[in-house]
Amino acid sequence: MDQEKVIVIDFGGQYNQLVARRVRECNVYCEIYSYKTDIEQIKAMNPKGIILTGGPNSCYGSDSQSCTKELFELGIPVLGLCYGAQLMMHLLGGKVEKAPVQEYGKTEVFVDTSSPLFTDVPKSTICWMSHSDYISREAPGFTVCAHTADCPVAAAENKAQGLYAIQFHPEVLHTQEGTKMLHNFVRGICGCSGTWKMDAFVENSIQEIRKKVGSGKVLCALSGGVDSSVAAVMMAKAIGDQLTCVFVDHGLLRKNEGDEVEAVFGPKGSYELNFIRVNAQERFYEKLAGVEEPEKKRKIIGEEFIRVFEEEAKKIGAVDFLVQGTIYPDVVESGLGGESAVIKSHHNVGGLPDCVDFREIIEPLRNLFKDEVRKAGLELGIPEHLVFRQPFPGPGLGIRIIGEVTADKVRIVQDADAIYREEIAKAGLNRSIGQYFAALTNMRSVGVMGDERTYDYAVALRAVNTIDFMTAESAEIPFEVLQTVMSRIINEVRGVNRVFYDLTSKPPGTIEFE
Ligand code: XMP
Repeated sequence: MDQEKVIVIDFGGQYNQLVARRVRECNVYCEIYSYKTDIEQIKAMNPKGIILTGGPNSCYGSDSQSCTKELFELGIPVLGLCYGAQLMMHLLGGKVEKAPVQEYGKTEVFVDTSSPLFTDVPKSTICWMSHSDYISREAPGFTVCAHTADCPVAAAENKAQGLYAIQFHPEVLHTQEGTKMLHNFVRGICGCSGTWKMDAFVENSIQEIRKKVGSGKVLCALSGGVDSSVAAVMMAKAIGDQLTCVFVDHGLLRKNEGDEVEAVFGPKGSYELNFIRVNAQERFYEKLAGVEEPEKKRKIIGEEFIRVFEEEAKKIGAVDFLVQGTIYPDVVESGLGGESAVIKSHHNVGGLPDCVDFREIIEPLRNLFKDEVRKAGLELGIPEHLVFRQPFPGPGLGIRIIGEVTADKVRIVQDADAIYREEIAKAGLNRSIGQYFAALTNMRSVGVMGDERTYDYAVALRAVNTIDFMTAESAEIPFEVLQTVMSRIINEVRGVNRVFYDLTSKPPGTIEFE
C-alpha cells in the first residue's frame, strides 16, 4: 500500500506523539522518526511533508540534537515547531539566543493572515508557548509572519521553498487554532489529500492479513483489553477459524468480565474463531497464598500466566503466526530523542513469544494510536463497552488488593468495584473520568451495623483524570454520588464497613494501589 505520509522528526520534545496524532486527525498518515535518521532513509520514504518537533536543549549548544541542512533542500515542505523552528533558523543563517523574556503558557500571538499557514486564523489568537531561547533574527529568505509582545519572530516563512517555523506549539490543545494551522500545513502547503480513514485502514488490513496468512494457523492471547480484542476481531474477520484465541481467566478480573469476554468471542459470540477459555482461578489463588509484597505478586501472576498459556499452546502445537496487540506508542517509546524504534514487549503478554512454537509475529495495530485503535474497534463492530474499556492492569485485581490475595477478598473488591462503576455510569461520568476503580485496603476497623459490632475491611475508591498516565489528579466526583456508592457498598458487600475516597494525585501517589 503506497500510503501518502508526513514524517515527524523527533528532537526529544515532550509532545512528539501529540504532533503525529494531530496530523492523523487531519486524515493524513504520519510516522515519527529519530533526528538521527539518515537523510537517505528519509528521501526513500518520499514524504509529502516533514515536521520537526520541540526539544529540551538550545540548538546552538555544541552537543545539541541537530540534522543535516540537506533536509531543507529536498523540495519537501518542512514545518519546524519550537526547537525545530529554532534549529531551522540556526542552520539556515538566522540567529537564536537566550530570550530576554521567557514565555510559558497561553500567550496572545498576532499572525499575518496572508500566510498559507494561517489561512482562516484570526489576526490575534491564543497559542501555547514554552521556550527560554528565541529567534532574534530570521534566516535570509524568510519573512516574519507572527509575533507576540515579547517575541519578534513567533513564526517565519520562506514560501518559495516551503519552509515554515513556528515558535509556539500548535499540537497542544491550548493553542486555539492549532489544529487549523496543522491542517493548513499538511493539507494546504504539503497538498496531502487526506485519505487516512479508519474504514479504509481496516479493510486494507484485513486484505493484507489474508494475503500474509494464506492457509496458516494463527494463535492470539486474548486479555479482553481494548488492544487484544481489536486485534483478535480484525484477525477473525480476515481468517475466521484459522485463528485460535486463548483467554486466561486468572480470577483477578473485574466482576463478570470473564463471561463478558466469552459472550463476545466464545461459541455464542459473533465470530467464527476457535475460542479457548482457561479457568485458572484456583491455580493463581494457590500461588498467591500468603504473598503480600506487590512486586512479588506481579511476578507470580506474570509467570503463572505464561505457564498456563504455554500448556495451552503445547496442546495446540506449532502455529505459523502469533498475534500481538502492540500499538504505535509501544513502538515509539524508546526514550526521549526517539532512538531507532525498539519494540517494547506488550505489557500484558510480555514473555509470551518464548513459550509458543511459531514462525512469525503479526501486529495488526502496530501503526495505530490508542484512539485510532478504538475507532478501528467501532468500525469492526465491537461492542462499545469493550472498545471504551478503561485501562486495566495485566495483574488485575491482584494489585488492587493490598496485602495477601484470597478468593474472598477478590469477591469483595469485585462487588464494590461493580457498584462504583454502575453509579459512575448512572451519574453520566463514565466517559469523563480517566480511570476509576475500587481497591481493597488491608485495614480492618470497628464499626456498628444494626446492634452488632463489626470488625471489617475498608474499601478505597479511586478516580483520576490524566492525559498520559504519568501524572494524574484525583477527579472531583459530586458528593451525593460518593455517598450513594458508599451506602450501597456497605449495605450490599459483606465484609466492608468503611469506604474512603482517595484524593492523592500522582505523584506522589500512583494510580494503582500497589
Ligand atoms: P500507576 O499505578 O503506575 O499506573 O500510576 C499507571 C497506569 O498503568 C497501569 N498499570 C499497569 N498495567 N501492568 C499493567 O499492564 C501493571 O503491572 C500495571 N501497573 C499499573 C495502571 O492501571 C494505570 O493505567
